[in-house]
Amino acid sequence: EMDPQERAFQERIDAGEKIEPKEWMPDGYRKNLIRQIGQHAHSEIVGQLPEGNWITRAPTLERKAILLAKVQDEAGHGLYLYCAAETLGVSRDELFEMLHEGKMKYSSIFNYPTLTWADMGAVGWLVDGAAIMNQVPLQRTSYGPYARAMIRICKEESFHQRQGFDIMMKMANGTAAQKRMAQDALDRFWYPALMMFGPSDKDSVHSAQSMAWKIKMNTNDELRQKFVDQTVPQAEYLGLTVPDNDLKKNEETGHYDFTQPDWAEFFDVLKGNGPCNADRMAARKEAWDGGAWVREAMAAHAAKKKAAKLA
Ligand code: ACO
Repeated sequence: EMDPQERAFQERIDAGEKIEPKEWMPDGYRKNLIRQIGQHAHSEIVGQLPEGNWITRAPTLERKAILLAKVQDEAGHGLYLYCAAETLGVSRDELFEMLHEGKMKYSSIFNYPTLTWADMGAVGWLVDGAAIMNQVPLQRTSYGPYARAMIRICKEESFHQRQGFDIMMKMANGTAAQKRMAQDALDRFWYPALMMFGPSDKDSVHSAQSMAWKIKMNTNDELRQKFVDQTVPQAEYLGLTVPDNDLKKNEETGHYDFTQPDWAEFFDVLKGNGPCNADRMAARKEAWDGGAWVREAMAAHAAKKKAAKLA
């Protein structure tokens, strides 16, 4: 039997109402949101690293300016999301601490290296493309601050996806060597991009409860299918080949049948064994430790101002 307060809460969710920070919510709802929003925020922040790698090596001034703006956008997304998580009663310091201690996750995708300039195209096109596919529905999520953060994030993600596709267009229509680089980037990022949507529905621990609470709006497999359906024609338009011999439009369902990613690899990356997990965490910890003096200086400045006001 559901307790009356929880039942009333569920009715509000079912009616499409937004839940706001100071309102009553079940503990599980709060915890699950902190987990998901925190993981999302960490993904935006760690997600700056693979692309930051190419800012100094972008081929033209224009490409450099675009990439710089995009990476700065990701920092901004992380900050809105930390703010949204803070409204649930967890501090930013606590969230960082949990990330650094390996108690919170960030997206598996950012544990793969970016080896060539074409990877900047593939990341924008596929990784940001997958991110939008997942985040557009989250604009309707039940928690007000999360839903509102998603609106601006999605606008910026669309620009990111377009800039990535534009790089792919240039590379795919460039010299034979450039086209090979574009194909190689697609080959390496295809399956990791499919993994971004999470494990298959039968292995998804949180989906059922998260969907009942509208913390999630779709299942992992639904969004993965939608992504494949949208992206395969784009690859064809680019003249590139999706690395899946069994990929085929199913005339009955209207959807593409496709090969699932290697789930053993996915769970291994989650455990910390991906190609770049150690590098990413080391870079984040170094940034945190290196920024300690800034945090101290700001706290000292704030204390001084407060004391001056009291005097
Ligand atoms: N990378 C790392 N961990 C993942 C991933 C992934 N791609 N997919 C699932 N997991 C983890 C889950 O966090 C969960 O572990 P936990 O219980 O320790 O937190 C476990 O695998 C089981 O998965 P699910 O039960 O299916 O997890 P969930 O319901 O949270 O679904 C999803 C995962 C779809 C990523 C969801 O959290 C979500 O929609 N998050 C918001 C979007 C987001 O975080 N995007 C980040 C990447 S995009 C970007 O930032 C540019």
